[in-house]
Formats: sequence, C-alpha cells, structure tokens
Amino acid sequence: MKMKLEKLKEEFLKQLETVKDSEALREFELKFLSRKGELAQAMSSIKELSDEARKEAGALANNIKSELQEQFEIVKKSFDEQKAETSEIDVTLPGKKIASGHLNPLTLVQNEIEDLFTSMGFMVLDGPELESDYYNFEALNVPPHHPARDMQDTFYVDLKNKDGEYDLLMRTQTSPVQVRAMKKYGAPLKAIIPGRTFRCEATDARHEHTFYQLEGIMIDKKINFANLKGVCEIVGKKLYGPETKFRMRPKFYPFVEPGSNGEYTCFLCQGKGCRVCKHTGWLEILGCGLIHPDVLRAGGIDPEEYSGFAFGFGLTRLAMLKYGIDDIRLFMGGDQRFTEQF
Ligand code: DAH
Repeated sequence: MKMKLEKLKEEFLKQLETVKDSEALREFELKFLSRKGELAQAMSSIKELSDEARKEAGALANNIKSELQEQFEIVKKSFDEQKAETSEIDVTLPGKKIASGHLNPLTLVQNEIEDLFTSMGFMVLDGPELESDYYNFEALNVPPHHPARDMQDTFYVDLKNKDGEYDLLMRTQTSPVQVRAMKKYGAPLKAIIPGRTFRCEATDARHEHTFYQLEGIMIDKKINFANLKGVCEIVGKKLYGPETKFRMRPKFYPFVEPGSNGEYTCFLCQGKGCRVCKHTGWLEILGCGLIHPDVLRAGGIDPEEYSGFAFGFGLTRLAMLKYGIDDIRLFMGGDQRFTEQF
C-alpha cells in the first residue's frame, strides 16, 4: 500500500509538470483529484487492510493527499494569473449601457397636465372604454336621432346588455365619465379624466381610429364662465409658457350651454402667424362650456343649486403640436425609433 501511494505521488508530480494550459489542468484534476479519481480510489482500498496497516497507510495517504493538493493549487493559481493578464476584458473601459424604456409622448403630456390639475385639487378619474349608448350620448343630451351623432361614428359592439339590448359601443369621447363621476361623487366635484377614445375613421396622417382625450369638470355653487376661463388660462401658460393668451369663441356642443371653443396663442410663432396655426396666430385646442342642466340632472345634481363647467381636449393633438409630430399614426405604431426620441 505504501509503495502504491508513493508511486501515485510520483506519477502525480510528473504529470503535473507536463500540464500546459488550464484545459489540460482541468483534465488532470478529473483524473487524479475528482471523487472517482486515482487518489480517491487508492484511499478507498485502504479500508480493506488490517487494523494496524490501515492506521499507518491512512496517515500516509492523508499527508500525501494534502501535499498533492497544495502542488495542484500552486499550478492552478499560476494559470489563473496568466489568464487575467492576457484576458481581453479591459476593466478600465466604461460599462455597456443597458437600454432603458421611454415614455410615449402622450404619457409625458398627460403626466404634465395631471400634475397641474392635482396641484389645484382635482381628482384624476378613469372610466370604461367600452361604454353604453346611454352614457356616451343620451346622458350628454344627444338623443338617438340628434345630428351631433354623425360627427362621432364609432364601433358598435355585438353584445347584448343586461336588458337584452345591443347598446354597447367604444366611447367616442371622455365626456361620458362626467355623468358617471357626478353619480358617484355628487357635488361639489373637481376632476379630470384622461383616456382612450375611438371613432370609426379612415386613418391618415391626421386621423386615427384610436386617440386620447382629456376631460375636465368643476361643479360647485356659483361656478361661472370666468372660472372656466381662468382654469383654461392656467393650462395654456403651463403648457406653452407664461406669455400664452387664451380666447373663446361660441361653439355648439349638446352637453354645454353656453358652449365655446378654446384657443391659445400659437406657441411656435407667438401669435404672428405661421404654418402650424394656419397663419391665424391661434391654435384651437379644446371644447368647453357650462354644463347643460340636463346633464347635471342625469348625474343626479340639482341645476338650481349647482352649476359647473366642463372642457375636453385631444391629448393626441396636444402632443402632436408640442413635439412637432406630423403623423398621428406614429403614436400607436409601436416603432421604438419613434418613442426613443422622447
Ligand atoms: N367631447 C367633445 C369632443 O369629443 C369635446 C368637449 C367639448 C368636451 C366641450 C367637453 C366640452 O367637456 O364641454 O369633441
């Protein structure tokens, strides 16, 4: 046994000297030092010896084992050091940047407006995109045969409601959430409602079947046109800078009375007239007015006691103007080269 161990040691050291690279060292390790390697095999045969001989051989085997392991580690360490020196990794180079996502420009504009309104005490509300005919039109003072429906053709959904009627559609505007919010929270009420809206449009650079709007309402005692104008002015100054002016011109919307559009001084030419504002100096951004008494009633609010204003604008249009985006289809196109720019 003793001789066998000495021979193994000799063989081990001889072969270790011939190892030239870390690949060969790995093979060497497998051959001699692994669980089924030669050293382990030799040691396992010790247990067949008689008591006396086993003691002696065991001690010798342990000594040899630690000596050989020590030699092996020395060689291994020298290979490792060599490898570090010749490695192709230059640890002084800056690390590779991990690509991070970007917010869609729509989200950026929405966040900006949400910050502004929450700072003035408005809630930010949500509503269903799959809406009933009632909330999308009737509760907003647009009965079935009203001509205003022609302007907002949408996608009707082939599903029956609880009463067995086909009355579901993809909402054409965020305005239905006005009535939903009134029913849920009552008056007084201050809320904005950003969200996705749909219309049956043939798409081109300026039209898209899916787009975003932002609605706002404020209901309290004695809310009037001056309050509406004041809030709209603040929005314009926040979006386009402190010099921005706001003007209103009468416009019909069935759910407000009186109704108005809202225009801001063109941010590009500061009102002088340019391509973006079609040489008028003004950009039409929103629709607004004082909430029609019928709409307040539909929301369960007494128009004799409370009044309110409402406004709605196209978030998509706002983002297009703000960032000079000339094709509406880019927003939802999923092309990263577009979103990466923001
Ligand atoms: N819902 C209207 C649209 O989609 C926009 C609008 C106009 C909303 C006037 C309002 C409003 O709240 O008062 O064209």
